[in-house]
Amino acid sequence: MRTELIDIKESTEDAGLQHAAEILKRGGLVVFPTETVYGLGAVATNLTAVTGIFQAKGRPADNPLIVHVADYEMIKELVADPQVLENENLRRIMEQFWPGPLTIIFEKSSSVGNAVSAGLSTVGIRMPANETALKLIRLTGAGIAAPSANTSGKPSPTAPQHVIQDMIGKVDAIICGGTCKVGLESTVLDMTCDPPVILRPGAVTKEQLQAVLGREVWMANSLAENEYSIPKAPGMKYRHYAPKGAVTVFMGNEALVAKEINRRVKEAEQKGLVPRIIATQQTVCYYEDAYVVMMGDRNNPETIASMLFSALRTCDEQGADLIFAEAVSREGIGEAIMNRLVKAAGYALVNLEAFSEAEQNSSQ
Ligand code: TXA
Ligand code: MG
Repeated sequence: MRTELIDIKESTEDAGLQHAAEILKRGGLVVFPTETVYGLGAVATNLTAVTGIFQAKGRPADNPLIVHVADYEMIKELVADPQVLENENLRRIMEQFWPGPLTIIFEKSSSVGNAVSAGLSTVGIRMPANETALKLIRLTGAGIAAPSANTSGKPSPTAPQHVIQDMIGKVDAIICGGTCKVGLESTVLDMTCDPPVILRPGAVTKEQLQAVLGREVWMANSLAENEYSIPKAPGMKYRHYAPKGAVTVFMGNEALVAKEINRRVKEAEQKGLVPRIIATQQTVCYYEDAYVVMMGDRNNPETIASMLFSALRTCDEQGADLIFAEAVSREGIGEAIMNRLVKAAGYALVNLEAFSEAEQNSSQ
């Protein structure tokens, strides 16, 4: 398949988007920018096109897609009971956080096919806060089903070159629209249950949702492998965001983490392996420059969110066999950053504070 690159800065923006909308209306696949990550889109009600998304990504069919909308009218066709949009709590959440990095789970209508919902009775809907995405949806005149535009299991794409790496030859067009502002996928919130549950943490935090609702919101166990074993967001059960190198995340005070990472780097070199360190502005001073891939500023965790996936991809490009990443505080957006980091590491999280406490206790 030939993939067209549509540079919205070069072509007069509307002509490029009009063309992309025509491709979608004909049943094609178009990658487009959003404020979170790039999405791999098809018209949500076109079954053949939606099936193409799963093929292009190599995505398991039991993982449902989010439908992107540009206005409230579009939602009415997607949900089982449009009256639900009058619900006070739901209205408050939509008004506060849309357009924005929040996906809300609704009971679905019959116009949402099983390919989109992966056999669930629900559908995830999001109104993205990106002008290009909103224009594209409006020009298409329909909800656009779109997962992140990465090959399944790889870090999500936050810049055009990431999409080009993964999707060239697999989609009809890629809209190149610069770097994604947020850099992590949307918060997924299930409001079909009581209390509401965050199925995937993102830039819209639990504290923000609780403040707007004036009540408690739960966080789903991100491991999602409890005795009931069917995770509510099916995507949570897959290994995710993983570069080729093996990632380990280290938690503890800065000096302790740096000491352990430097020890492991030396060990890796002795074995002839290529190590990389994912560090922050505050901690690069502890390491040799050649090993470091920067992921932002601890005092401004939004920078870490926006750079994390790109840092993981850089490690791949540099041929890293082993990737040692520093943990960050779980406060605010930190919860989402740690969720992605720990998944990229396949849950290889080393708590050095716990080790040093145990050592101290045993030597007493
Ligand atoms: O920011 C985002 O959400 C990006 C951009 C493109 O909008 N999209 C994205 O889609 O991250 P995807 O497919 O990579 O992740 C969607 C997540 C998956 O974990 C999926 O299991 C969950 O949302 N999900 C989708 N529909 C659901 C539903 N009906 N019930 C529960 N979880 C759902
Ligand atoms: Mg994804």
